[in-house]
Amino acid sequence: MTSLTNDTFLRALLREPVDYTPVWMMRQAGRYLPEYRATRAKAGSFMDLCKNPELACEVTLQPLERFPLDAAILFSDILTVPDAMGLGLYFSEGEGPHFERPVRSEADVDRIGIPDPEGELKYVMDAVSTIRRELQGRVPLIGFSGSPWTLATYMVEGGGAKNFSQIKGMMFDRPDLLHRLLAKTADAVTVYLNAQIARGAQATMIFDTWGGALAPANYREFSLAYMQRVIAGLTREAEGRKVPVILFTKNGGQWLGDMANTGCDALGVDWTTDLADARRLVGDRVALQGNLDPCALYASPERIREEVARVLASYGQGPGHVFNLGHGITPDVNPEHAGAMVAAVHELSRAYHV
Ligand code: CP3
Repeated sequence: MTSLTNDTFLRALLREPVDYTPVWMMRQAGRYLPEYRATRAKAGSFMDLCKNPELACEVTLQPLERFPLDAAILFSDILTVPDAMGLGLYFSEGEGPHFERPVRSEADVDRIGIPDPEGELKYVMDAVSTIRRELQGRVPLIGFSGSPWTLATYMVEGGGAKNFSQIKGMMFDRPDLLHRLLAKTADAVTVYLNAQIARGAQATMIFDTWGGALAPANYREFSLAYMQRVIAGLTREAEGRKVPVILFTKNGGQWLGDMANTGCDALGVDWTTDLADARRLVGDRVALQGNLDPCALYASPERIREEVARVLASYGQGPGHVFNLGHGITPDVNPEHAGAMVAAVHELSRAYHV
């Protein structure tokens, strides 16, 4: 394997000294890029794109051709795992993801198996290998998975949720059943992430999009505990380097202190928490990733630069910060504005690493 030309991202995740704050964007390969829309049209659909390793590699690299990003992220989706469990994933235009066979009963939970990453999910692993080959060591590749709780939310609801009526109904009525589902899902996530690492992912991120919808005690029992279980089972070194793990609970600001004790290396922070407060909560236990409000990219490049300056100042001096948006970039953002953000991070952050 070639060594990395730019490993700033990996060093920042381990709180090692860097010359500038590295930056990448959640959903950096996506609909805001016309070249992404063209490749998706060529593939046929979003899932066809995910299932074609060459085209998934192509869209992974597109944002890197435009902007000097410090990391690439595997182009795929968190719902590949429940799809491989046989739930029948489909996307309906403008309505997001759905499952043909949601998990509701005891029999449904029993029926679910742990997908073989080199079997039903081989297309994801082939994408990882292809991307690593094509990156040629330019920047590290991030692998990812949904958290057990977030995946279970989609599996039980049968798609996106407004009130979480099905999953929370199960949580309050049948906690035993939900625990069985979460345990299986956590094992599936563990082998899935380890397979990505074996194929060349150099860092991993766990997306807990819906953990923030839980009451604190429920968050600890049904989301955090299973993320901790996943982390405990992960391969932590590959190719002679540490493979850092980033944990991201959207709307999880109040739990950052607990999240820092899971054994992860870094925490994703959304824009509802100030990075200075987050840093006080976690101390020197973990690095922080975030947290510009994605809507700031609707403003002018001059205003974007001011907002970048504000986020950098809120983290303050020294290593341990990876710049990112607080959630995914939205489809109607002008790509030039994303470029303005990346340039501002690289330029203005040098003052914080002297
Ligand atoms: O960050 C990246 O560039 C990597 C790719 C990535 C995608 N999805 C691509 C995608 C990642 C890391 C994800 C994770 C994901 N998928 C999450 C967790 C992150 C988060 O946003 O909190 C969730 C909840 C999903 C489930 C999912 N997939 C949703 C809710 C949607 C949106 C549906 C829509 O119509 O907008 C998707 C589809 C999806 N995943 C798209 C992309 C680029 C858009 C598909 C398209 O129309 O091209």
